[in-house]
Amino acid sequence: MSAVAASVQAPAAATTKPVLEAKDLQRHYRIGRGLFKPAAVLKAVAGASFTLTAGRTLAVVGESGCGKSTLARMVTMIERPTEGHLMIEGTDVVGCGKQELHALRPKVQMVFQDPYGSLNPRKQVGQILGEPLEINTNKSAKERIETARAMMARVGLRPEFYTRYPHMFSGGQRQRIAIARALILNPRIVVADEPVSALDVSIRAQVLNLLMDLQAEFNLAYLFISHDLSVVQHIADELMVMYLGRPVEQGPKQVIFDEPRHPYTQALLAATPSVDPKARSKRLTVKGELPSPINPPPGCAFHRRCPFATEICGQERPELRPFSGRMVACHHVEKTL
Ligand SMILES: Nc1ncnc2c1ncn2[C@@H]1O[C@H](COP(=O)(O)OP(=O)(O)OP(=O)(O)O)[C@@H](O)[C@H]1O
Ligand SMILES: [Mg+2]
Repeated sequence: MSAVAASVQAPAAATTKPVLEAKDLQRHYRIGRGLFKPAAVLKAVAGASFTLTAGRTLAVVGESGCGKSTLARMVTMIERPTEGHLMIEGTDVVGCGKQELHALRPKVQMVFQDPYGSLNPRKQVGQILGEPLEINTNKSAKERIETARAMMARVGLRPEFYTRYPHMFSGGQRQRIAIARALILNPRIVVADEPVSALDVSIRAQVLNLLMDLQAEFNLAYLFISHDLSVVQHIADELMVMYLGRPVEQGPKQVIFDEPRHPYTQALLAATPSVDPKARSKRLTVKGELPSPINPPPGCAFHRRCPFATEICGQERPELRPFSGRMVACHHVEKTL
């Protein structure tokens, strides 16, 4: 095989094996413990299964409070799952020892929503990028500077910015610094939690394109969290729609965007006219408020807001099942067209 053929085939082979596998992932919080309050359990994520693959993006969407950031904190190993399994490059994070966890951590990096809060205001860009290298690698001081400068160039930051402080940058430039910091240790997975929602609309596309270029260049797996479906349409390969801690529809982005089958996905898409002009005419809107995850409704968590709901929806929770090229958790999925 020629060298060129080998280099072309290598990434293709890498995309077939997931770098991360989550099985029935759950995170519960005990809350309300106090003198007069009985403890309650809040299931912020109540069972999510998905895979991340090199070079591809899984987007997680859903209303505020549905568990997106909690999911991100588990995948980045900031928090341990309460139940389920989380395999990262073959190691199960659940139950693994401190040393194994320590070795896994650099492989998963995070880009946060707020480019102002996530960078230390007292450190220069060069220090922000050099520190992870100092802690996690054996690079010499000179090599660290070179690596940091190369990464700055790669994300579109000029070399003279090396000695500047975060407050001297615009939101978009700060997010470039945060992206450079996330990539400096050559991670396999990048978790981006609403990475462009705090940015001006005019620079969102630039940052998204940068993220996509970097994904292709470094063969990164992305877990991309957003409530904005027009952003998701741009960047996702796979989609997971969450409602109250559980995925309700999950599968290839185009399949779901072309024909959403869960009533909640339909409502989300209908509320994003730029994505789905067809859906707008249907005027499918979600009634009422998101129920509390401390006391979720019986049966399907969405049934009180759902135009298709019948008696069974208030009694039995629908399991995710394969339907028409994706997974859907709805008793009436055959009728939702
Ligand atoms: N440390 C915690 N202790 C108790 N409850 C928590 C904790 N973290 C999150 N929650 C609760 O878990 C649920 C999911 O929160 P999470 O932050 O994951 O939602 P989200 O989808 O990221 O929302 P948003 O779109 O607003 O960022 C919410 O009801 C939240 O109040
Ligand atoms: Mg969040």
